[in-house]
Amino acid sequence: MPLEEIKLNIKRPEINYSIFIEDGILGKIKNYLPNASKYFLLTHKHLYDLYGEKIITPLQNVLGVKTHFLPDGEKAKSWDNSREILESMLHFQMDRKAVVIALGGGVIGDMAGFVSSIYQRGVDFIQIPTSLLAMVDSSVGGKTAVNLGGYGKNLIGAFHQPKLVLIDPLVLDSLPELEWKNGLAEILKYSFLREDNGEFYEYLDNAPQPSKGGALKEFIQVSVQTKADIVKQDETEKTGKRALLNLGHTFGHVLETASEYQISHGLAVSIGIRLAAELSFKLKLINLEVKNKIIDLLKKYDLPIKIPTINKTQGDFQSEKLIDLFMHDKKVENNKINFVLPVGHLSHCEVVEFNDKEVLKEILSLCF
Ligand SMILES: NC(=O)c1ccc[n+]([C@@H]2O[C@H](COP(=O)([O-])OP(=O)(O)OC[C@H]3O[C@@H](n4cnc5c(N)ncnc54)[C@H](O)[C@@H]3O)[C@@H](O)[C@H]2O)c1
Repeated sequence: MPLEEIKLNIKRPEINYSIFIEDGILGKIKNYLPNASKYFLLTHKHLYDLYGEKIITPLQNVLGVKTHFLPDGEKAKSWDNSREILESMLHFQMDRKAVVIALGGGVIGDMAGFVSSIYQRGVDFIQIPTSLLAMVDSSVGGKTAVNLGGYGKNLIGAFHQPKLVLIDPLVLDSLPELEWKNGLAEILKYSFLREDNGEFYEYLDNAPQPSKGGALKEFIQVSVQTKADIVKQDETEKTGKRALLNLGHTFGHVLETASEYQISHGLAVSIGIRLAAELSFKLKLINLEVKNKIIDLLKKYDLPIKIPTINKTQGDFQSEKLIDLFMHDKKVENNKINFVLPVGHLSHCEVVEFNDKEVLKEILSLCF
C-alpha cells in the first residue's frame, strides 16, 4: 500500500562564509582562494586592465583560468548574456568543483552569482566587489539576478550565497564620483535601521568627509556587518526583517523608473529615504527632530533630497504618474504598498502598509 504522505526532511548544511576587508588584499589573493578544479573570472575589460592581473597571475601557472568580459552597464545584466556566459563555462569544460570569480560592481556580482547558481545545478562563486555599492551591499547576502527584457529589474534570479567575499578598499581609487555617491547612500541607509541607538549615525555625523582610501574602511565594515546581521535572520526575505534593507527603495525605484534611469540608484535611494522620513513624520511615527536628523545626514554627505535639476527635464515627474508606478512595484500586495519607514527613534525602521494616494502625492511633491 503506498503511503499518502511521504516526508522528505533534508537538513541543509549551515551557510557560512567569510568577508575579508583589507587594503591591498587583492595582491594576496592566492592566500584566500579556495581550491578549485578551474577558475572562471567574470569582469569588465576596463576593470581587468586595472586589477585583473593581480588575480590571474598567481593562478595562471597552477590551474586553468578563463576570463569572460561583460559589457559595462545595467543592460548587460541580461538573460541573453547569461546564456553566453553559461556557454563559455561549458566550452571551458568546468566541472562542479570549478569556481566563478566576480570582479566588479553589482552588475558583475549579480550576473556571476546567477550563472553560478544554475551552472550544473550550482557551483561556488567568490565576490570581489569593486564599487562602493557592491562592497557594502550587493556582494553580501546571496541575492543574484538578471533582467528579462522589459519586465522590470531583477525579476529572474536565485538565492545563492558566495563562498567568500574579498573587499579591497584601495580599488575605490579608480571609482567615478557618481558611483561613490551611490555607495554612500547605502552606507547612510544602514545608520537609519541598524538598531544601535544611533551609534553609527553619530559616527557618520562626526566623521570627516571620507576619502576613497582607508578612511572609509570603518564605514564599509559597519555596513557589511549590518547587512550580514540582517541577512542571517531572514535569508530569503520571508519574515520581513530583510525587507528593512529596502529603506528608501520604494520611493527610490519609482523615481529611477520615472527618470528612465537617468537618476542613478543611489541618488534615488537618498531622495527615497528623505521621502520615507517625510511620510513617517506625517503619520506621526517619528518626531521632527528625528526627521531633520535623517535629512541632515544626507545633506552632510552631499546626497540629494530632491530630484536634481539636471534630471527634472529628463523624465515624467507628475505625482499621478508616480502613483501609477507605485502600484506596479514588486512590494505592492492587495493594493497596499509596503513602505519601510523610520519609526520611533533614529536607528529603527519597520515595514508599514500604506495606500492613501492623496497623502502619497503630497509627500512626492516635496521632492520636485
Ligand atoms: N544582489 C543584491 O543584493 C543587490 C543589491 C543592490 C544592488 N544590486 C544590483 O547591483 C547593480 C548596481 O551595482 P553597482 O552600482 O556596483 O553598478 P555597476 O556594477 O554597474 O558599477 C557601476 C560602474 O562603476 C564601474 N566600476 C566598478 N568598480 C570600479 C572601480 N573600482 N573603478 C572604476 N570603475 C568601477 C563599473 O564598471 C560601472 O561602470 C544593479 O544591477 C542592482 O540591481 C544587487
